Amino acid sequence: MIDGKKVLFSGMQATGNLTLGNYLGALKNWLTLSDEYECFYSVVDLHSITVRQDPAELRSRARKLLTLYIAAGLDPKKNCIYYQSHVSCHAELSWILNCFTYMGELNRMTQFKDKSAKHADNINAGLFTYPVLMAADILLYQADVVPVGKDQLQHLEITRDIAQRFNAIYGDVFTIPEPYLGKSGAKIMSLQDPTKKMSKSDENLNASIYLMDDKDTIIRKFKRAVTDSEGCVAYNDTQLGIHNLIDIYSACTGKTPEEIVKEFDGKGYGDFKLAVGESVADILTPLQARFYELEKDKAYIDGIIKENAEKAGYYANKTLRKVQKKVGFPERIR
Ligand code: TYM
Repeated sequence: MIDGKKVLFSGMQATGNLTLGNYLGALKNWLTLSDEYECFYSVVDLHSITVRQDPAELRSRARKLLTLYIAAGLDPKKNCIYYQSHVSCHAELSWILNCFTYMGELNRMTQFKDKSAKHADNINAGLFTYPVLMAADILLYQADVVPVGKDQLQHLEITRDIAQRFNAIYGDVFTIPEPYLGKSGAKIMSLQDPTKKMSKSDENLNASIYLMDDKDTIIRKFKRAVTDSEGCVAYNDTQLGIHNLIDIYSACTGKTPEEIVKEFDGKGYGDFKLAVGESVADILTPLQARFYELEKDKAYIDGIIKENAEKAGYYANKTLRKVQKKVGFPERIR
């Protein structure tokens, strides 16, 4: 609790171009929860270097992502928006938690298996202990809730296991966090292969809607989205492409899948795809305009970066000091 409010933590990687999946699975829920909770939203650049990055590009993407959080509507005066690398407690707690995490647990992580397959020439130790750093992010702020997409649930599970293990030895040190999944949009699929998650790293540019795509591109990509030959808008487990488009439309408009099926009863896929594309563009166009405006205001963004790193550091330090004492590190002499 901070000032009587429960705490929320979440983060995104500054690698690749953010997709509609990132927005609907995470960012959109961050917006709805931000009044109710004391929120920490991190640009997780420490995680990014588990895969080789061009330094200048990483720095530029990280700043863009931080600006995008604000452009999406998160008030940086109320929400702590900061770079993970500016708060060294993340790395320090991660080390300690490494000593409370089993190799067998990490071996089971599907993201590790996927990423090692993709980057076979660089299966580094950071990639393996990635979920421990994620646990450190969350536990440092004593987060009650962590809004994420479905693909991160396994990492939330291991975070809870590590926290419970630590608490069982040292008493109630960490709050046990709960994941938060939105009603719709928790797993947005590729527009070109609806059995695959929409992903920043997809080589097929038509598979993903990027948050910076303009309206024409968005509509064109939806028009090309893979569907089926049934010809009717129905919500079931066989028409996977249509299922995904219904999920997207539902997340963008707030309509339920049943209402959507009714709305497009008797209409063709062309009309439906256009409506989905327009609903997405209605959200992304104003977001992009705010982003380009904000990006110009260097001094404002710099101020946010500085202030919020200090705020995050204050809370993170509190937890880290407590943990260091519990595990038996000597007290600092002042
Ligand atoms: P990242 O950067 O891959 O994704 C950021 C958020 O977007 C969600 N997401 C999706 N949701 C629905 N459909 C999709 N197709 C889709 N693709 C991505 C992700 O679930 C995530 O919520 N390890 C994390 C970042 C992280 C983090 C944390 C998150 C580091 N520390 C602590 C929460 C708490 C990651 O790589 O997310």
